[in-house]
Amino acid sequence: MAWQWRLFGFLSLSLLVFSATTNASQCSIKWLPVVRNVSELPQDDYGRRGLSHVTVAGSVLHGMKEVEVWLQTFSPGSRTPIHRHSCEEVFIVLKGSGTLYLASSSHEKSPGKPQEYAIFSNSTFHIPVNDAHQVWNTNEHEDLQVLVIISRPPVKVFIYDDWFMPHIAARLKFPYYWDEQCLQVQASPKDEL
Ligand SMILES: *[C@@H]1O[C@H](CO)[C@@H](O)[C@H](O)[C@H]1NC(C)=O
Ligand SMILES: *[C@@H]1O[C@H](CO)[C@@H](O)[C@H](O)[C@H]1NC(C)=O
Repeated sequence: MAWQWRLFGFLSLSLLVFSATTNASQCSIKWLPVVRNVSELPQDDYGRRGLSHVTVAGSVLHGMKEVEVWLQTFSPGSRTPIHRHSCEEVFIVLKGSGTLYLASSSHEKSPGKPQEYAIFSNSTFHIPVNDAHQVWNTNEHEDLQVLVIISRPPVKVFIYDDWFMPHIAARLKFPYYWDEQCLQVQASPKDEL
């Protein structure tokens, strides 16, 4: 009889381990195929209307250490918050057009009136570290799709209500929308200007 019980014990333990791993599988960094189909990666609006976000290669999801890559689509009229972060960020516009608002005044008390730049399909732009900015799909007829590369992931974002809000009043959002589910943090990191 003893071996049957041992087999039973082994099977129940396997079942337990299996269910534990399936519950955590969404957030645990598992083996990744070298080549993946971007169209099959999870996409979500993460509570932001008009946004479709895909983490193509991420720190929290995939264990990236130095860079993170996002594919984002903004429906007409949708936009990022006015925000800043102490990492480098590069955009490549794959589709559509819109407006980049950029305030390069980190030594002032608040971002101030931003410069406006027209962004268009096949354009690229980068955001200097800590400059407040906003990307807005100002084209009423077309989605704006961008590929975004950031350094120093996971991103720590300071959000402004408007361009004249003092830098010190900007609210830290960490973990950021798409990192929230899998990144639990106890204390806010110090990442001020
Ligand atoms: C990638 O995924 C899309 C959507 O599921 C699919 O239509 C396409 O055929 C896939 N590409 C390859 C090469 O498997
Ligand atoms: C973007 O660049 C590619 C490669 O140079 C070109 O084939 C395509 O027509 C360009 N698209 C637009 C909208 O300019």
